[in-house]
Amino acid sequence: MTQEQLTVAVAGAGRWADRAHIPGWQRDPRVNLVALVDTDRKLAEEMAQRFGIPHATDDVREVLEDASVDVLDVATGNDAHFELSMAALEAGKHVLCEKPVHHDARETRRAADLAAANGLKTKLGFTFRYAPAIQYAKDLIDEGFVGDVYVFNGYEQNSQWIDPATPLRQAEQPAPDENEIAVSSIEGYGAPIIDIMHWWVDSPLTEVVGTMRNFVPERMVRATGLRQRMNIDDGDMWICEFEAPTIASIQSSYVTVGNYPGIEARIYGSEGAIIVRLVEEAGICQTIRTATKNSVEFVERSIPERYYPAGGSDREEWPSLFYSNLIKDFTDEILGGGEVNQGDFAQGALVQRTINAFERAARERRWVALSEVPELAGV
Ligand SMILES: NC(=O)c1ccc[n+]([C@@H]2O[C@H](COP(=O)([O-])OP(=O)(O)OC[C@H]3O[C@@H](n4cnc5c(N)ncnc54)[C@H](O)[C@@H]3O)[C@@H](O)[C@H]2O)c1
Repeated sequence: MTQEQLTVAVAGAGRWADRAHIPGWQRDPRVNLVALVDTDRKLAEEMAQRFGIPHATDDVREVLEDASVDVLDVATGNDAHFELSMAALEAGKHVLCEKPVHHDARETRRAADLAAANGLKTKLGFTFRYAPAIQYAKDLIDEGFVGDVYVFNGYEQNSQWIDPATPLRQAEQPAPDENEIAVSSIEGYGAPIIDIMHWWVDSPLTEVVGTMRNFVPERMVRATGLRQRMNIDDGDMWICEFEAPTIASIQSSYVTVGNYPGIEARIYGSEGAIIVRLVEEAGICQTIRTATKNSVEFVERSIPERYYPAGGSDREEWPSLFYSNLIKDFTDEILGGGEVNQGDFAQGALVQRTINAFERAARERRWVALSEVPELAGV
């Protein structure tokens, strides 16, 4: 019998679960959100009550051992992503996990392989891939609107941390030397636009080069509430070459003035070009504009309704619009039972490998081949 309903547990009762994950699951009538787990039990209980989730606990084993739970959604802080994802995959659950699954691409690949071996589906929290404008653009690219892809430009930038008094977590991956800049913006912010680059360009990445800068030397650290030296990348710029004759640029920063979320993806090819902006401006969170070689003036396109979650519109706030689409898509993929699994952990491993190659290129100030970054442990 075809499964028609999905039973889900969420781990992590923080801000992002509150704003995006839980509303997304509850919007889909095919989903039963049955449990909320947080190491802070009181927080789990409060949020479960507010959202009407029947069970709250601080012990994830309760949901892992419950055979009726189909999906674990890992919306905790980054430290717990890998451990919880692996435990859930071992327990036979499909997994949605916030990015990154692991800072090391080889570990993310290991989780992807475990999912494949157990016949399970995975999904990374690549929020912006699920923006209706980005999904629509991908279909246009696949239909040949752009032709052969020449150039991709990706930006993910806003000014969330331009004020040093806004508390920020310390970089989770310290630099090899305290005088060197630790990776921060390109991993925390850049990952989703790197995901879109790979997805749209659809050709193996060969080599990368680029640089990172620390613009704001001292900041308020969230854990201590004190201001201290934080030598982290708060702005960066990269060039990528692909096997196809395509070149791409990526730029990420959280100290560049502009509104949220601050994504722009541009693709230019032999037939046409597409520019998608995911920036809240004039009450709208996304636009798609296209041009062709015979009509070079960019014009705005309206996005067909099939790209939206139920009741969704461009006037909705981006976290709920895009995240509801992500969850709808994951629910479709699991209940549909087919092979399709977009934005999965294997894609997450590719994105993480790209970030690892960027870091090496910046540290060694040279072009780095993706093949220099091992894909699997022990390689
Ligand atoms: N995809 C996106 O666009 C996007 C946007 C915002 C945040 N995020 C990501 O979402 C995640 C959560 O962010 P947040 O702002 O909600 O953080 P947060 O600190 O507000 O919440 C995290 C919660 O996880 C809980 N937790 C930690 N370890 C746990 C464990 N082992 N088991 C159960 N609960 C545990 C903490 O107690 C806390 O309540 C982060 O990884 C963040 O990077 C993604």
